[in-house]
Amino acid sequence: MINAVIKNLIQEKTACVGVIGLGYVGLPLIVEFALKGFPTIGFEVDTKKVDDINAGQSHIVDVSSENVQKCLDGENFKATVEFSELGRCDVIIICVPTPLRKTKDPDMSYILAAGEQIQKYARRGQLIILESTTYPGTTDEVLQPMIEEAGLKLDEDFLLAFSPERVDPGNPQFQTHNITKVVGGVGKDSTEVAAFLYSHIVENVHAVSSARVAEACKLWENTFRAINIGMANEMAKVCNALGIDTWEVVRAAATKPFGFMAFYPGPGIGGHCIPLDPHYLSWKARQHGFDSQFISLAEKINSGMPKYVFELVRDALNENEKSIKGAMILILGVAYKKDIDDMRESPALSIIDLLRAKGADVRYHDHC
Ligand SMILES: NC(=O)c1ccc[n+]([C@@H]2O[C@H](COP(=O)([O-])OP(=O)(O)OC[C@H]3O[C@@H](n4cnc5c(N)ncnc54)[C@H](O)[C@@H]3O)[C@@H](O)[C@H]2O)c1
Repeated sequence: MINAVIKNLIQEKTACVGVIGLGYVGLPLIVEFALKGFPTIGFEVDTKKVDDINAGQSHIVDVSSENVQKCLDGENFKATVEFSELGRCDVIIICVPTPLRKTKDPDMSYILAAGEQIQKYARRGQLIILESTTYPGTTDEVLQPMIEEAGLKLDEDFLLAFSPERVDPGNPQFQTHNITKVVGGVGKDSTEVAAFLYSHIVENVHAVSSARVAEACKLWENTFRAINIGMANEMAKVCNALGIDTWEVVRAAATKPFGFMAFYPGPGIGGHCIPLDPHYLSWKARQHGFDSQFISLAEKINSGMPKYVFELVRDALNENEKSIKGAMILILGVAYKKDIDDMRESPALSIIDLLRAKGADVRYHDHC
């Protein structure tokens, strides 16, 4: 039985773990496996990242270069652009980007590219896990048929699961090892073996009945955040209109020990997750004739925040008989959140554009 064979390799820590995509998600993950003694191979298309990693340099805030060097010294870790080595892996974990197209539909091209490489080098006895955030159904509708095209059968020849990554870059309290890992396989054997694998690197694993539940779980979590941030942003506008201090209100509400969770207003949302992931869910819901209104509303409110901030700046300058044109404005912090170096989708960039378009001389400072 294929599940017993893979489980045995995992138990003995001889299962070779391949991670495709060595970014914010993939690098911390492969380092955890390598530090636990598993033979590991990281697959990347960016040759600079591969060279840096193989030279002991981390490009990710949450992974120290010391730990990368420790993995290299252990001689059970390397990064490569050579995908034929996928054939050596007993476990393959996909951590590639899942952006949106200009139309805000899911851009599946990275998952498809990774799937094509796996298909090319697939062999009997592999456990394949998707970690990239995506719509429910991707693992069994997209990946499973690709691997089966290579002449392999689920459960007999290979196992397949989805396990969402929940890493919070820059968060010193919660990192890969102490964030519960949700795991859902395409079938019981896949769930069981994937859960067993992760139990070697994380403290708690929560197995669910299918890959679709695990995919939906990740989108539920991030949609929850997008909507609550949207509500906080709207409440900030309401408080501002009423002349009430928003922050004092939130701080007071947060003293309630139940039934309230504090979310804070801001200049908008950024990063690779919160602005994007809810669209994966609403896109899939639309395919099934369902229009998700909360997601659309939160998107509208959150994406309007840079303009709102611009208007606040304009009004404050006006109060002081100054115009935006010619004003020298310093922006403190351009990453999408504190203590990270990630500017993807950062609302600060939209604010800078809006101010510059009206003639402001904008400078910025960010310590990362
Ligand atoms: N960044 C986060 O905080 C976070 C948290 C949870 C989940 N996720 C999800 O995890 C996934 C990866 O996100 P990320 O932030 O790590 O992205 P990233 O851009 O930091 O890393 C992805 C890496 O994959 C590489 N890549 C692209 N195509 C490839 C291919 N065909 N083969 C090999 N490598 C390839 C890229 O060069 C890049 O280094 C996304 O689906 C994202 O939504 C991200």
